[in-house]
Amino acid sequence: MNLQKQVIEAFVARFGTPPVFVARAPGRVNLIGEHTDYNDGFVLPMAIDRAIWIALRPNNGRQVNLYSLNFAAAASFSLDNLENNQAGWIEYVKGVAWALQEAGLALQGWDGVMVGDVPVGAGLSSSAALELATARAFAAVSGWAWHPAQMAQVAQRAENEWVGVNCGIMDQMISAAGKTGHALLIDTRTLQLEAVPLPPTAVVVLDTATRRGLADSEYNTRRAQCEAAADFFGVPALRDVSLAQFQAQAAGLDAVTRRRARHVVSENDRVLQAVAAMRQGDVVRLGQLIDASHASLRDDFAVSSAELDLMVDIARQQPGCFGARMTGAGFGGCALALVQTAVVEAFVTAVATAYQQTTQLQPQIYVCQATNGAEIQNV
Ligand code: GLA
Repeated sequence: MNLQKQVIEAFVARFGTPPVFVARAPGRVNLIGEHTDYNDGFVLPMAIDRAIWIALRPNNGRQVNLYSLNFAAAASFSLDNLENNQAGWIEYVKGVAWALQEAGLALQGWDGVMVGDVPVGAGLSSSAALELATARAFAAVSGWAWHPAQMAQVAQRAENEWVGVNCGIMDQMISAAGKTGHALLIDTRTLQLEAVPLPPTAVVVLDTATRRGLADSEYNTRRAQCEAAADFFGVPALRDVSLAQFQAQAAGLDAVTRRRARHVVSENDRVLQAVAAMRQGDVVRLGQLIDASHASLRDDFAVSSAELDLMVDIARQQPGCFGARMTGAGFGGCALALVQTAVVEAFVTAVATAYQQTTQLQPQIYVCQATNGAEIQNV
């Protein structure tokens, strides 16, 4: 049964009437442009066909009452008395309510049931999906207009200040604004978007079945190193450093900071080259840029892991693979591969078998379609 049907039926079973709205917001995978968003740089993610769904009805009150099918748990809170209990899925919902109110938007209460198929903690942005589905639910019930970039910023604020994860804007932006059949070039400084048609190849997400929390200190360490590098170059963010300027001046940086900055500066350049390659239909070039991104993340930015490196190596050994790299924050989670559509089934089987034989871990593999960002339907 598809999730939309499932969430509607569960709503009816719980509340005795059909819902009034169904909100959906997708997870994402980033084709290229990793650890560039908090440097005001470029990213090229796509929204994937895995999402959070919320079936809901306004309750004309100040309470939000929500049941999660995945967690088999109910939670409620009052919009007049938001308390941060530090943990649990409901904090993402509360955090969005808080950030929306901070943005001056008036909120109404609702009753809802939610379900999702974005794996949690895999690096496919299940939290951004929950945040954006929540924002869409509030927009529908409270009657104000939906502006994707504004909602992405509100959701990012919820994640930064309520949940306490210091992420950039990429995940929320793509979950808010994704486009079917396209990746989005996002300029994370201006939030300008450009939809770039995907090539006729399969985008395969390869979950290593290893996890590392994002609130992890390594992410914050990388951010601090990038800020130090920007200070050294005398610019607001590493986005402002060209490859030429980097080469001319980087010798003055200590070795570690220099490698971190080299990743960001070169990655921004690779994103723009990847967009050009996609526009020219040059999948071979796109694959090379994806491979180069992995090398840079592994060697210069040092956010890969043994399992991610192994997954990428195995993927590249298969016929029909144009390129592969780790995706998301790193240290665990997922890699992605660009694969010839005609051989994708054989690719999936071969990669799963080889990875499992070497690691004894059972990988999850998803062939992903690019979908629209957060949507709401009247039922
Ligand atoms: C996580 C963060 C994003 C981004 C990526 C790395 O997914 O949530 O904002 O920084 O890591 O590219």
